[in-house]
Amino acid sequence: MRVFAKQFNNTLADIKASLCYYAQTGCHGFDCSKDSLAIINGWGKNSRIDSEPLMTICSKIANCRGCKLWQERKNIVFGAGNPDARLVFVGEAPGQKEDLLGEPFVGQAGQLLTKIIEAMQFSRKSVYLCNIIKCRPSGNRNPEIDEIQACLPFLEQQLNIIKPRVIVGLGKFASQTLLGTDSAISRLRGHFHDYHGILFMPTYHPAFLLRNPARKKDVWEDMQKVMKKLKN
Ligand code: URA
Repeated sequence: MRVFAKQFNNTLADIKASLCYYAQTGCHGFDCSKDSLAIINGWGKNSRIDSEPLMTICSKIANCRGCKLWQERKNIVFGAGNPDARLVFVGEAPGQKEDLLGEPFVGQAGQLLTKIIEAMQFSRKSVYLCNIIKCRPSGNRNPEIDEIQACLPFLEQQLNIIKPRVIVGLGKFASQTLLGTDSAISRLRGHFHDYHGILFMPTYHPAFLLRNPARKKDVWEDMQKVMKKLKN
């Protein structure tokens, strides 16, 4: 009886971790259509797509208090998209809408990023989206160094699991942090750098583009270079 109770508790814990992961990757309900069930049935068969390692990190940080940002957050914004993506976008930090929904890049800047992704002939679901820090700094202030340091190991683990061909660093915080430099984003952008053997393209953040639309052409140049690499 005791063994049965233990197995039952383990199963409940697994279900809880899975639901927590789905909620944090932006799932707000289950689509039980025939098409979706066919896709789900195919998971694990002849496919490298396996979200479990990401799910494990996500459930480990579900109650994270590693920095002061836990006090005001509504949701941890872990990341969303394809766990087997060849292309990952890393942004700065969740904003108000992201904090409310638990999903990255769903506000105004996110809508612009979605347009960029689609112009590159990808979809939000085919790439992976995440941030340098996973909780919203109040009032959308810049992330602070202690917050970045506390959160960075989780991002590093995510990137190490996904192992994309290309990472796009959106803005100065993502690019400077992952490349370990304090060079200006205007100098870093436009060419590939190395991030642990992965091609890394820094570019302007979509929120910056909303304020400086004239720079959109620079981002498009950068994204064309990324598209070219992904074709090889
Ligand atoms: N800006 C970011 O850097 N990340 C988000 O998720 C939303 C806005």
